[in-house]
Amino acid sequence: MKKKKKLKKEALYGFIIIIILIIGLIIFGIKKYKYYQYTKTYEYKLLNKGWNETQTKEILNLYKNNLDYILKKDVNENIITFAKEKYFLFKNLDEYLNYYNENSVKSTKDIVAIVNVHANNNWYEYDIDADTSLNEKILVNKFYHLNKDYSDDDITNISNTYAYENNRLRKIALDAYINMYNAAKDDGIKLIINSSYREYEKQESIYEDYKNWYGEIKADKQAARPGYSEHQTGLAIDVFTIDNQLAKTFKDSKGYEWLKNNAYKYGFIERYPENKEYLTGYEFESWHWRYVGVDVATTILNEDITFDEYYAYYIEK
Ligand code: DAL
Ligand code: ZN
Repeated sequence: MKKKKKLKKEALYGFIIIIILIIGLIIFGIKKYKYYQYTKTYEYKLLNKGWNETQTKEILNLYKNNLDYILKKDVNENIITFAKEKYFLFKNLDEYLNYYNENSVKSTKDIVAIVNVHANNNWYEYDIDADTSLNEKILVNKFYHLNKDYSDDDITNISNTYAYENNRLRKIALDAYINMYNAAKDDGIKLIINSSYREYEKQESIYEDYKNWYGEIKADKQAARPGYSEHQTGLAIDVFTIDNQLAKTFKDSKGYEWLKNNAYKYGFIERYPENKEYLTGYEFESWHWRYVGVDVATTILNEDITFDEYYAYYIEK
């Protein structure tokens, strides 16, 4: 009887030990499986690559849709720094990093802006057809050109009330300008357009004159080469006031101040602002205003960016 009891007890212990072993094995297996699953996550891969925990968290957040690409890159804090910039575009990441290597004294904000507008290339060397289907949102600058024969169907004569002889604009810009002219007049400011739509040939002769007077380097800072002037779009105006028509002094005039405060309401923007030559390619032109529509003009003013930057970030992307 005693032997039988003992045997029963031993069998029970054996059974319990087996159960414990099985449970242990299961727990071990689950742990192993979980770890195996974890090794397949981006978090594991990034940490394994050498990014620290904080950086890994930031990358997972900043590069959600492009983690495979980031995994191929060496650990570099700038990958995070650039992605935090407001106007960061993933497609430009490598260009930001390369440009930074040569220009590390520049701020990351500036580098993003420069690369976005392609100004990390020499002027005129990166050359794209301007997208004429964009109407008032078209970009024409030292990288985006118009064909020699491009002209909009809608080019309309401007009456002498608003402009000197032989000025023309696209209807959409002219209508907006007339509204702006009237509003300015109500405030005691008498605007006058001195140059507006210019055909390719006209721009060619202007540019050649500048080149002859000042040499190519200076000419390029002030006049666009033919095909590269937004005057050819019929959306740009050189505007002064009756009592102040000097390029040198217009920036200090009441007319300029009025335009700075009000032009956006009519869809016009200052196209070549002060201290933005590194982005626009042109010296400050207080008289050159461009019609882009009220929404775009408002955003550009509020965000204090050039049209080139706007285009890169909001249109071209
Ligand atoms: N002055 C401007 C840049 C032009 O020639 O179009
Ligand atoms: Zn102009």
